[in-house]
Amino acid sequence: MSSAEVLQGGLDLLAVALLALGIKGLSKIRSARAANRLAASAMGLAVVGLLINAHPTAVTWIWIAGGTAVGGVLGALTARLVPMTAMPETVALFNGCGGLSSLLVALGVMLAAKGEGLTPSLLVLISVGLSVVVGAITCTGSVVAMGKLQGWLTTPGWMMRRWRHGCNIALATGVLMAAVLTVVGSSDALWPLVIGASLLGIGLTLPIGGADMPVVISLLNSYSGVAAAAAGFVVGQRLLIVAGAMVGAAGLILTQVMCAGMNRSLTAVLFGGALGVASAGSKEHSEYTNIISCSAEECALTLEAAERVVVVPGYGIAVAQAQHTLREVARLLEKHGVAVTYAIHPVAGRMPGHMNVLLAEADVPYEQLKEMDVINSEFPATDVVLVLGANDVVNPQAKTDPDSPLYGMPVLDVQEARTVFVVKRSMGAGYSGIKNDLFERPNTSMLFGDAKQVLSNVLGELKVLGVGQ
Ligand code: TAP
Repeated sequence: MSSAEVLQGGLDLLAVALLALGIKGLSKIRSARAANRLAASAMGLAVVGLLINAHPTAVTWIWIAGGTAVGGVLGALTARLVPMTAMPETVALFNGCGGLSSLLVALGVMLAAKGEGLTPSLLVLISVGLSVVVGAITCTGSVVAMGKLQGWLTTPGWMMRRWRHGCNIALATGVLMAAVLTVVGSSDALWPLVIGASLLGIGLTLPIGGADMPVVISLLNSYSGVAAAAAGFVVGQRLLIVAGAMVGAAGLILTQVMCAGMNRSLTAVLFGGALGVASAGSKEHSEYTNIISCSAEECALTLEAAERVVVVPGYGIAVAQAQHTLREVARLLEKHGVAVTYAIHPVAGRMPGHMNVLLAEADVPYEQLKEMDVINSEFPATDVVLVLGANDVVNPQAKTDPDSPLYGMPVLDVQEARTVFVVKRSMGAGYSGIKNDLFERPNTSMLFGDAKQVLSNVLGELKVLGVGQ
């Protein structure tokens, strides 16, 4: 074994350890940023190890430098320009790129072997088959997912018919046959395999409704890990195998957590089409009666007199970017002696951890964030609940109406508190598109307006009252 190989082995080992630590650190808000950097450095180390051992030619160096520059600039621009609310689409796009990379690596190895008249080993052939199938499905599926979330794509009517399952089964059978032929050494089956798997990715993702799309993105993230691990076997890269397996497993766990939070089975998500939970929409509901609306002044007066306040953030706070104003309101109340906590629903917002990230941006102490299971028992002893741009996650129908599409989804029992203020712009629905009985409860008052604007008004009123001064 040459010294370069020993060095690469050592760097790989270090990278795997750092990657594992990085993934562990991502589970806590406090350590997430540092963990992300750690994981990125781990991948950097692995690349350095590979370059030391691979002895690239001058031309290869140009390709490597060019690819790094283009990828780096695109990554930096995306990180800077994409708003938090568009993060699910961005993650979908990145998953698609991951799938495409694995597909291209496998194709490159096969085409190079064909050009040199070599037959790859059985392990490489199996890995190529897996990389191509999973990579292509991930790539086209992710592009469709991104298009649907952005509103660029809708499900065509015929895709909602049951016979679409027949089409997908026929495609899957064709893909399986082409994969077997590729594994037994027929290079002619490679392109039909790429085309068939790419079509399968579209066929499987296009019928899925917008509301289920983030779950699908999480699953595609897991697939991109599997494709990367398979590509690792193709090129004999241990780190790629380990990293891909970690991403695959993490994506699968996240998918399960999201399904549980939305009360959807994975089978219903994947094969139920856009049926079930209605897709995203903020349609106005006219069937509301007995709505009580109030002013920022009334809200401020109630907050001033409260001892315990629970804030329930939802998707609307992300849209309004109201987290910093919320923090100012909370600071004043805390100075005044009010205990302020934040109720975090696992699927509030549009991506896992959305609310945690948003509140962390505004330096809300992590200890004040309470999970749904903990906070639900505390609502009866709460004076005021401030529901900010949340809707589905506080809909009591999920517990009371067996006919509701939300029935069975765990929700925050905010109606148990003495007073509930709901801040939103209209009587429009949340993601599920359904009416929310909470708004008609006698202890609920609506504060209509953009969350940031309403909170600024409440802040102004609290200052007028001398709260926290
Ligand atoms: P939603 O039920 O989507 O409700 C958000 C509410 O925010 C809307 O009713 C909207 O009402 C209001 N809003 C929008 N912009 C606003 C603004 N600028 N100021 C004030 N209010 C604003 O949100 P949620 O309660 O967070 O529930 C999340 C939903 O998304 C659930 O159904 C969940 O299953 C689904 N989902 C979540 C995830 C993850 S992982 N988090 C993934 C997929 C789907 P107005 O239009 O009247 O203002």
